[in-house]
Amino acid sequence: MSALPNDIRLDDRHPAVADTLDVVRRGLRTKPKRLPSRLFYDERGSKLFEAICEQPEYYLTRAEIALMREHAGDIAAALGPDVRLVEYGSGSGIKTRLLLEHLPAPVAYVPVEISRSALLDSVATLSTTFPQVPMQPVCADFTQPLRLPVAVRSPRRTVIYFPGSTIGNFVARDAVAIMRLMRTEMGDNGAVLIGVDLKKDPALIEAAYNDAAGITSEFTLNMLVRLNREVGTDFDITAFAHRAHYNPMAGRIETTLVSTRRQDVHVGNEVFAFGDDEAMQVEYSCKYSLEDFAELAHKAGLRVEHVWFDAEKQFSVQYLVR
Ligand code: AVJ
Repeated sequence: MSALPNDIRLDDRHPAVADTLDVVRRGLRTKPKRLPSRLFYDERGSKLFEAICEQPEYYLTRAEIALMREHAGDIAAALGPDVRLVEYGSGSGIKTRLLLEHLPAPVAYVPVEISRSALLDSVATLSTTFPQVPMQPVCADFTQPLRLPVAVRSPRRTVIYFPGSTIGNFVARDAVAIMRLMRTEMGDNGAVLIGVDLKKDPALIEAAYNDAAGITSEFTLNMLVRLNREVGTDFDITAFAHRAHYNPMAGRIETTLVSTRRQDVHVGNEVFAFGDDEAMQVEYSCKYSLEDFAELAHKAGLRVEHVWFDAEKQFSVQYLVR
């Protein structure tokens, strides 16, 4: 974990162990069992996700970076000067860098990220490249209302940057709720800049979530490793398997952890029975047509003002306003 430059203060609202235990307990009581995908992102989980982005099958990151390389100038022009850039789920920072390089006089960069180590690493790196941009990191769950830190000087526009198609991790109802929250946080003159993965040949999509090197499988299983360590559960990691299928009706990858035998798992003072081949839902990755996504945005009180694509039209970055 990197130390922060001493003029940068971390606003730490990382959830407590007791909250995580509660989330797990509730998830295992439902039928089918399910755990929220944000539990993937501890220090190792964030590193494994970075490794996924480098797999030949995982087209999303490459397509989005190519898009940003080609269109960052245009995108920055749409955002304009004196922007406060708020990023939800700050990743490795390559896309952010491309954006910041082109943004005229940004007021502040505010990354909001649940993984404390990933947050500190990305801010430490970005602050050396952009020493003139004030950084205000917030360690928090972005599905909760935010209380943005007070800006150093008043921004002309707050832009919520949500790259990576992370919005796809949420079912339509929750995705609308999150975009509504964004709409509130950004204010009247604000905007959302969001990465959205597009519908395409299901075989290509499915391969992206089943890489031959097995990194995605390791990433999925790491959720259990993490829970065993952090909240004292006793998942037998060798008796669960990663399974990811594209559901064409729902237009999404459905990732599950499948119990490979009958077994009991202890969570706090409760016991949960898993059947042989029982699948526990851990992630959705929704894919959209332009119409699908415009409708979702509309339900959140937002309008799609501009869409940029990579050369192969695999991925989109969309600019949403009130
Ligand atoms: C970071 C949420 C966009 O859903 O594609 C990658 C996470 N999961 N491989 C995605 C992920 C399995 C990723 N997002």
